[in-house]
Parts: sequence; C-alpha cells; structure tokens
Amino acid sequence: MTVANDLVERAESVAREGADAFSRAAALDDLADAERRFLGKSSALNEIREAIKSVEGSERALVGKAVSGARAELEAAYAARLEVLEAQAATLSATRDRLDLTLGPREYVRGHLHPVTRIWRELEDVFVGLGYKVAEGPEVELDWYNFEALNFPPGHPARAMQDTLYVRLGARESVMLRTHTSPVQVRTMESQPPPIYVVAPGRAFRRDTLDARHSPVFHQIEGLAVDEGITLGDLLGTIEAFIHALFGSDIEARFLPSFFPFTEPSVEFAMSCVFCRGAGCTVCSRTGWVELGGAGMVDPNVFTAVGIDPEVYTGFAFGFGIDRVAQLLYGVDHIKNLWDGDVRFARQF
Ligand code: PHE
Repeated sequence: MTVANDLVERAESVAREGADAFSRAAALDDLADAERRFLGKSSALNEIREAIKSVEGSERALVGKAVSGARAELEAAYAARLEVLEAQAATLSATRDRLDLTLGPREYVRGHLHPVTRIWRELEDVFVGLGYKVAEGPEVELDWYNFEALNFPPGHPARAMQDTLYVRLGARESVMLRTHTSPVQVRTMESQPPPIYVVAPGRAFRRDTLDARHSPVFHQIEGLAVDEGITLGDLLGTIEAFIHALFGSDIEARFLPSFFPFTEPSVEFAMSCVFCRGAGCTVCSRTGWVELGGAGMVDPNVFTAVGIDPEVYTGFAFGFGIDRVAQLLYGVDHIKNLWDGDVRFARQF
C-alpha cells in the first residue's frame, strides 16, 4: 500500500470515528471535548495533513482532497450535533430555571359600610318614618350658631363645659369646630317658617382625649320639632318611639331633669341596657340604664333669636351620640375601633 493510500484511508476512518464520537456526545461538554480531539490543532486529521509533505507530488492532491473531505464531514457532523444539544439545553433550562412571573388573581375587596354609617342611616330612616326631614349644617361654625343664638351668652358658664376647638379665623374665638349638632336647629329655624320637623345627623368636635368612651370627633343626631301646641309629652313620646324602633319595644326610656341653655325644661334621657335588660352589667356600669343624650323644650330666647314668635309656637329638641348607639347595638367595647379604619373591623357588621 502506498503512503498516499494509507493516508487517504486514515483520513476516512478518522472522519467516521469523529462523526461517531460527535453523535454520541450526550452533552455540550462532551461535544466540545470531541471537537478538540477531531478538529483541533493536534488532531489526527492535522497529523495526516502534515504527512502530505512525505507523499509524492503526483499523489498529494488525492490525499489533500481526502483530508478536506474528512474535515467537511466532521464539521457537518459536529454542527448537526451541536444544534441538537443546544436545543436540548435550551428546553432544559427553560423548564428547570423557569421563573414564574405570572401575577396571581387579585382579590377584589369590596368596601363595607362603617357601623356608624349604618346606624346613621337607620336613624334617618326611623325619623323619616315619623315625618321628619333630614337637615345639614357646616362643621366649622360661627359663635352665633354654636352658642349665642342657642342662649349661651358670651361668658356663660355652660360654654366652658363644651371643650371647644377654635379655628384661627376672624376675631378671637369667633369661629370653631361645632361642639354639637344644635347649631343646625338655629340654621333651620332661620331659613324656614314652622311647622318644622327635622333631624340633623353629623360630626361634632370637642377637646376630649381619646378613651374607651370619648373621642375628639364624634357623631350626633339632632332633632327639632316646632309647631303650634307641641308639648313635653310629644318629646318624651318621640324619644320613646325611636328607642323602640331601634332597640325593640321591650327597651324602656327614662328621663331625668337636666340643664341646657337652649331648652327649658331640659331632660337627659337613657334607655334600659340592651345587654342585661336592666339587671346591671359592665356596659351600663351595673345601673341597668345607658345614657343616650339630652333634650328639652326649645327655650323662648332661642325662638326670639331666630325670629319665631314664642307666643304662637312651641317646640322640642333632642340630641344624642350616634357612635354611642353604634357601640351599644354592635357591642363595640372601645370607641377607638370605630376610628381605626380597619376593614376587618367594619366587615363584622
Ligand atoms: N347639644 C346637646 C349636647 O351636645 C344635646 C341637646 C340637643 C340637648 C338638643 C338638648 C336639645 O350636649
């Protein structure tokens, strides 16, 4: 066998061997090793090419052709295997290194009526049912409406009991956050002639420190009836009617004499405790009664201040805390819960 034939044969067998090694490479690393071995600088194929020098001139072309044929075969086999292994690696990493960036479904959190809002609306319903209209007034109020027209003259000691939050506007202590909803009485009587039957629910403010029962911001509902021939009996009957409507007909109303500058006579009203039914428990401080608010017959001075003739008309007014009623009806022990704004709290009702 000539040297040339021998080299051609070796080139062909290297090509077969290499193609076989490439196709058996199980991973990219193995393929890279095989590539170095069969196509690298010190590969058998390069040795064969070097050996061409020792071949006679007329036969060199034959060997050269065999070498480049073998190289082309090897390169093609390598490229084919590389494509397959790269595709496999890509799928593998796509599944194994997968980062799930899908956003989970977002829960749609529905709002919920606050217990104070619910009681507010229930109270409006009860009074609308009794023939009252709903009135409103501003939360930042003038001295005239909050005090003076309500028969609290300047310097009157009853003003001191109101723990007023003043607003720095106008003359000193002339503008304030209303300390009660009673200024709406004055605004209503100024703007319309009797007969008047209104309730005014709303926010009121006092310089109170937050504790289990007091908050510097609270809600009241005011009631006002002005007509000919209205008596204290009508007032007591009305209060009893709404207590029964709200808490049930077995809950009793109780009245005690009291004082407010804008009503005469004045009463404080309470109801029998909804929790112990009068037996005495912690909610009612073992008295069996729960204080609700104040009321009375509209003082003639108030009528005069708003231009209503006290010789023709009489009327009554009442006011009580909405938060208090909400606390009682829903058994909320600390008033702070009403102000936290925690939806989990509101959802319970
Ligand atoms: N405004 C009074 C208060 O806040 C309550 C009240 C209203 C009393 C109406 C009498 C008549 O204490």
